[in-house]
Amino acid sequence: MTKKGYYGPYGGAYLPEILVSTFEALTTAFEQAKGDPAFWKEYEHLMQTYSCRPTPLTLAENLTRYLGGARIYIKREDLNHTGAHKANNVMGQGLLVRRLGKTRVIAETGAGQHGVATATMAAKFGFRCTIYMGEKDVDRQRPNVFWMKRLGAEVVPVAEGTRVLKDAINEAFRDWVSHMDDTHYVLGTACGPHPFPEMVSYFQSIIGTEARQQILQWAGRLPDRVYACVGGGSNAMGIFSGFLNDPVDLVGVEAGGKGLQSGQHAARLCSDEASPGIAQGYKTWFLQNEEGQMKETHSIAAGLDYVGVSPILAELHERKRVRFCAATDAEVLEAMQLTMTKEGLIPALESAHAFAQAFKEAPGMSPSENIIINQSGRGDKDIFTIADAFGDPEWKTFIKDTAKRYHA
Ligand SMILES: Cc1ncc(COP(=O)(O)O)c(C=O)c1O
Repeated sequence: MTKKGYYGPYGGAYLPEILVSTFEALTTAFEQAKGDPAFWKEYEHLMQTYSCRPTPLTLAENLTRYLGGARIYIKREDLNHTGAHKANNVMGQGLLVRRLGKTRVIAETGAGQHGVATATMAAKFGFRCTIYMGEKDVDRQRPNVFWMKRLGAEVVPVAEGTRVLKDAINEAFRDWVSHMDDTHYVLGTACGPHPFPEMVSYFQSIIGTEARQQILQWAGRLPDRVYACVGGGSNAMGIFSGFLNDPVDLVGVEAGGKGLQSGQHAARLCSDEASPGIAQGYKTWFLQNEEGQMKETHSIAAGLDYVGVSPILAELHERKRVRFCAATDAEVLEAMQLTMTKEGLIPALESAHAFAQAFKEAPGMSPSENIIINQSGRGDKDIFTIADAFGDPEWKTFIKDTAKRYHA
């Protein structure tokens, strides 16, 4: 890192004057917590007793045999409470909010996983909670909206812009500016102004720390490659951080959508359609046009269609420390199908991007090599999208019959 909060030329905190003191207080609280060994112990204890940590590292024997190359291990972040790695970040921020003495939390969400995780944390810590979500994502992820409300959160659909994650982030910042005294913004990924990229990566690093210990224990050596999907970049930063100083090939998989030539994807670091810019308070690679207008993105996975990417990953990309590639929607569905039938695991559509890329590469590797795929979340939330994509006729009938019952 060069200047505090910068990663090469990326990162920073480009803030309206009114938010500067709030960010300073947050940065100070975070640095004090980081320097206090009792804080990490408290965090680990909370995650062990509330969120199933350490999550297992599963050897995927059937997939390994089927693909006939590298031994495949899967880091099981799907087993976290609320079904994804998002819990690691929100519980850590919850402990910080308590230290800050604030009583209300707000968050943005795309796939809804971060929203559900935040609503859960707010219920446990006794905070009031408001979640901002693009209208398009509200439609795609209705079950998560249902749970957020049941958990006691207010869910605000955002009708601005393209009605997806970036618009929800803008709205959350607007709320924060007017309620700084009692409110903390629980940003859900390793993006945004400093200290968020560093802070979110710090809490998510629990994934990489565990995975490194586990692979050394089970396989007796480091993995050759580690795969993670990349939305904003928090699960990737989490697992990669365990191996950054090791001779391990780190692979970030972005949303290839309908193909990199289709104009309908969310690949920032592995397509030639993004460029460096400053938006939403930080500098990174954005999918934007020449005037700096954000482009529309597409992915079958709601959690991967963000226009920007972690500034830490942008710098690791520039240094060629992390290799970036993309998996298309069709490849993702194929990878999901294979993982379900061979291993009995149901990855989230986001996570299935990492599986898809690993499945392309594993057969070309030697059986003496090991890879880890980060299963960032479980796929239950995606049942509507997946059933639609596979055109399941019985599911369609079930939905129609249910709708009829409501109209009767
Ligand atoms: C299961 C899952 N994986 C991955 C992501 C992408 O986020 P990130 O890149 O911050 O890990 C999301 C986002 O909602 C998610 O729900």
